[in-house]
Amino acid sequence: MKRSLSAVILAAGMGTRMRSSVPKVLHRVNGIPMLRYVVQTVQELSPERVVVVVGKKTEAQIKDALKDVDVRFALQQEPLGTADALLSAKKALWGFRGDLLILNGDTPLITSDTLREFIKRHRRAKNILSILSFSAANPTGYGRVIRNSGGMPLMIKEEKDLSPEEKEINEVNSGVYMMDKELLRLVSQIKINPEKGEYYLTDILELSVKRGKKAGVFKIGLEEEFHGINTKEQLRRAEEILRERIIRYWTDRDVMFMNPSATYIHPTVKIGPDTFIYPNTFLEGSTVIGSHCTIYPNVRIKDSTIGNNVEIKDSSVLEDVQVEDNTVVGPFARLRPGAVIKEGARVGNFVEVKASVIGRGSKAQHLSYIGDAVVGSSVNIGAGTITCNYDGKRKHKTIIEDNVFIGSDTQLVAPVKVQRGAFIGAGSTITKDVPPESLALSRVQQTNIKGWVKRKKRG
Ligand code: UD1
Ligand code: CA
Repeated sequence: MKRSLSAVILAAGMGTRMRSSVPKVLHRVNGIPMLRYVVQTVQELSPERVVVVVGKKTEAQIKDALKDVDVRFALQQEPLGTADALLSAKKALWGFRGDLLILNGDTPLITSDTLREFIKRHRRAKNILSILSFSAANPTGYGRVIRNSGGMPLMIKEEKDLSPEEKEINEVNSGVYMMDKELLRLVSQIKINPEKGEYYLTDILELSVKRGKKAGVFKIGLEEEFHGINTKEQLRRAEEILRERIIRYWTDRDVMFMNPSATYIHPTVKIGPDTFIYPNTFLEGSTVIGSHCTIYPNVRIKDSTIGNNVEIKDSSVLEDVQVEDNTVVGPFARLRPGAVIKEGARVGNFVEVKASVIGRGSKAQHLSYIGDAVVGSSVNIGAGTITCNYDGKRKHKTIIEDNVFIGSDTQLVAPVKVQRGAFIGAGSTITKDVPPESLALSRVQQTNIKGWVKRKKRG
């Protein structure tokens, strides 16, 4: 039978080196708190439980940042080191038997493929303890893996405790461990490190070797995956690594970028082939973009679905909306939650759409607000048209049926319905329903007073 797996993520450290009032593990990488990456990666392994160890000071903020994910929290009373942090998870692991995967909360770039491989090797070797290591181009700051002359791992030594020769070692601890839960008993025997006054989880290797427990260190995965974040400089580097990783992934899938270093894509976003993305674009959350689209500069798209062959022109903001095939949006369009732009429609310059459907082939090209409306197909909405959907207390609906023409600068005072094929003269304020195929006009007749200017000047 397969052994069960639970994960413990250590996230209770003070993050002093970050020099910030924000808890270290909540600093954002590509717009998402780093701890969320670790949690998500671990969840891809379908563990029985995921325990996040938090500290007193940061508990509330971390719980809030993870409120939508299925994890348990454990409280480390004082930040007494990584061994103490792990032991704080004991209660949350009560009743669990099997393997523990332990990770630091400040290494957000680890991939689930690497973790899977690590778990496989741990189990194949029938180890009680395994540690995931990597070769660091610059090992400074990481714990070094000390091996004997035969290559057997003996211990991990932290930076402060290294001799000058040991500082040359570039095989370092990634902060990822696998252990039989039973080994927690040995973890509780780890002694305080006199240099730092903390209990180092890394000491578990030496202790296990000494007690004859089967322990191993596996060097797998790429260095960039284990990039740990302790400082703002390391945070910036993580941004870079993640951005490059995401861009590479989409380039391999035939998405094109004019300047990838200024393109920001959440790991959760999906993009179709032959889509071209200009710089300074932000694609966020659950956004899905089809193929053959062009996303122009300064666009932000969040939690939205964009069809195929769509143009999103410069400086548009789309949030929680649906844009169908062959449409053009922007420049300077604002699509707010619940906007649905049907096939072939156009929403142009300075147009705001909220909780409304814009039907097939319809156009709202200039300076309009369309809220709580249902617009049919082949409708023309003139410049400056406003749906007056709010009476100060409640929102009301505007219905515009197929083939309607709305002249410029029209106010549609909701609730109101403009029926099929009707025509509204420019500058009208529409307060009553308009029957099909009729003209609605509601403006004062123009008067021209001849010679008025001349008379005024003389006067
Ligand atoms: C740790 C490892 C080091 C490894 C490196 C990999 C130890 C002693 N050292 O060093 O060998 O190369 O990670 O990135 O483990 N934490 C707590 N409670 C505490 C202290 C820390 O929960 O009392 C958490 C932190 O929030 C962090 C993680 O444990 O997420 C690691 O702590 P950190 O101080 O960053 O350890 P490093 O010095 O980076
Ligand atoms: Ca760290």
